Amino acid sequence: MGFHTYDPSRADNLEDPTRYQYLSVDELLALFDPQGTVADLGSGTGFYTDHVAPYAETVHAVDVQDEMHEYYREKGAPDNVEFVVAEIADLPFADDQLDGAFSTMTYHEFASDEALGELARVLRPDALLGIADWTRNGEGGEGPPTDERYALQDAMDALTDAGFTVEHASERRETFVLRARR
Ligand SMILES: C[S@@+](CC[C@H](N)C(=O)[O-])C[C@H]1O[C@@H](n2cnc3c(N)ncnc32)[C@H](O)[C@@H]1O
Repeated sequence: MGFHTYDPSRADNLEDPTRYQYLSVDELLALFDPQGTVADLGSGTGFYTDHVAPYAETVHAVDVQDEMHEYYREKGAPDNVEFVVAEIADLPFADDQLDGAFSTMTYHEFASDEALGELARVLRPDALLGIADWTRNGEGGEGPPTDERYALQDAMDALTDAGFTVEHASERRETFVLRARR
């Protein structure tokens, strides 16, 4: 079960370029295959969505809070970004619809058996899911409190239980990244 949902009044903080010290654009693009129809799971203000959009046909920006989409619309989104208000555990996509998906700093907010089962349903066979998030084993200097985070091993076990194959996984000072294949 995820821990909490991001406070929209703090949306400006998500646009802070110092965030690249935790996850760069190159790292994110290397985590999954950003081609075809992809989804950003918990897209927020679109800080990372903007960097994926040039490589994909369509990016579904999925967020449970329409306030976050409002912020992103006002900021200005690329033409191939489609806004979707939905819980990750209940996605309005057909079976096997997505060619790939990614999530940045949000896994700890949506993780549940239902959400991972839903991702297994909507990603086509062989599609890649890239996840970057704060790690429970981190220093806790920034981001959510460490007791509101998952460790890399927790995420790997949950994804494996949901039917994914984890192909790459790395825990760092404050974050983890992983690539899982449906
Ligand atoms: C910490 S923000 C990160 C936003 C963005 N991924 C980034 O890195 O800039 C988490 C976002 O995920 C959304 N979110 C949280 N739980 C969610 C869920 N269960 N389903 C869909 N969106 C969710 C929140 O509304 C918020 O906009």
